[in-house]
Amino acid sequence: MGIVLKGGIVVNADSVERQDLRINGPVIDRLGFGLETDGDEVIDVAGCYLFPGGIDPHTHFDLEVGSTITADDFITGSKAALIGGTTTVIDYATQSRGGSLAEALSIWHGKARGKCFTDYGFHLALCDCREEILYELETLSQTHGVTSIKLYMAYKDVMQVDDASLLRVMRVCREQGLRVCLHCENGDIIDELVREAKHVGRMTPEQHAATRPEIVEAEAVFRGICLAEITGCPLYIVHVSTTWALSLIRNAQRRGLPVTAETCPQYLLLDESCYEKINFEAAKYVLSPPLRSSRNQAGLWQGLADGSFSCVGSDHCSFNWHGQKELGRTDFSRIPNGAPGVENRFGLLYTFGVASGRLSLQEFVRVTSANAARLFGLYPRKGVLGAGSDADIVIWDPTRRSVISAATQTQNVDYNAYEGLVQDGAARHVFLRGQPVVKDGVLRAVPLGEYLPRNPVSIREGS
Ligand code: URP
Ligand code: ZN
Ligand code: ZN
Repeated sequence: MGIVLKGGIVVNADSVERQDLRINGPVIDRLGFGLETDGDEVIDVAGCYLFPGGIDPHTHFDLEVGSTITADDFITGSKAALIGGTTTVIDYATQSRGGSLAEALSIWHGKARGKCFTDYGFHLALCDCREEILYELETLSQTHGVTSIKLYMAYKDVMQVDDASLLRVMRVCREQGLRVCLHCENGDIIDELVREAKHVGRMTPEQHAATRPEIVEAEAVFRGICLAEITGCPLYIVHVSTTWALSLIRNAQRRGLPVTAETCPQYLLLDESCYEKINFEAAKYVLSPPLRSSRNQAGLWQGLADGSFSCVGSDHCSFNWHGQKELGRTDFSRIPNGAPGVENRFGLLYTFGVASGRLSLQEFVRVTSANAARLFGLYPRKGVLGAGSDADIVIWDPTRRSVISAATQTQNVDYNAYEGLVQDGAARHVFLRGQPVVKDGVLRAVPLGEYLPRNPVSIREGS
């Protein structure tokens, strides 16, 4: 017996059609108008959109940062993802200094296995590029199914990698069909600006933004693009926060370079005025790159609509305001960087993208799932509602309205950066590989999530 979803509007990256959809076991069996339902369970989804399950290509669950650890682990983070319409996350397995890549992956498998409610893959975040790590990169894809790595141009003395190492790693990645996800901020300059600020007694959270001006992102984006040009390595620039950086990315794309990029809801919807909040509230918005002038936002939305950005990642990296962000009460540079968002990414993009007329339904699907599936080696298993694909389906009721609030969220953190915003629409039901994991807005699942080995970038495909 299968399940037939009847009367909904099926949205894919390049089509919007009223169609029925039949699920058979873990996959989509067929789509069509007026499908026969002999012996099948029928669910009436008239008035709803059917979207491919969201793919969040940028999360940090169960990540140790300094003396603390993210508030969300794979259990709470992935539950929050599902409730919000995201059925796959690609989390950053992070190498420890001196550790091997195999070790990092084995630790991350241990964190996720049997605990994750969504399907999941891993990017590998490198902080140390010694010779043997370059050898390990050569087998990363075949041995572990990991086809993307992250390199940091910031976080000096912790994660930052120098230009020579970037060049070496990118050459290997080009050879091995690995995509490089790059955190673009100039860590040396930031480090110096932070020292200067502290020297004159500027210790409050707004200094986080003051010491990471737009130019340190733009410079690093340009340098990253130069490295992609020299090496031919497919480059994916993560969490882009400014139109300045976007213009450099567009320029590279026009020149045919293998450069793609992601932005995040926080840069589309929040701005630097958050740092004016008093009583240490501003610490909730200490994330990198920092929130920017609202002058950037229209341009960033335009970049999403015209395809300059391929994806929206949440960069979910949650720390409680009480006890964790408070580590930097007297010194902004000790505030753990990051904010929650995995639960809200999909709904925010629907509300402020589709419902506000900034994105078409197809563009919404492209940036919330389809492009991530293609770039990160999951297509056509994920990112499309088509025969043979995994039955990861979000049945989205556009008539629902809700107010985003920490009081009602599933994320295991004591604030929500989007507190008070009204969300249009909500996930009525969510299927993960044919299993009804959210029913009538309520999480019904056990941790069914499976690890997703991914395909390498094909040389022909390039970007
Ligand atoms: O502030 C942020 N973005 N924290 C998460 C780590 C990163 O740089 O992506
Ligand atoms: Zn980053
Ligand atoms: Zn991140």
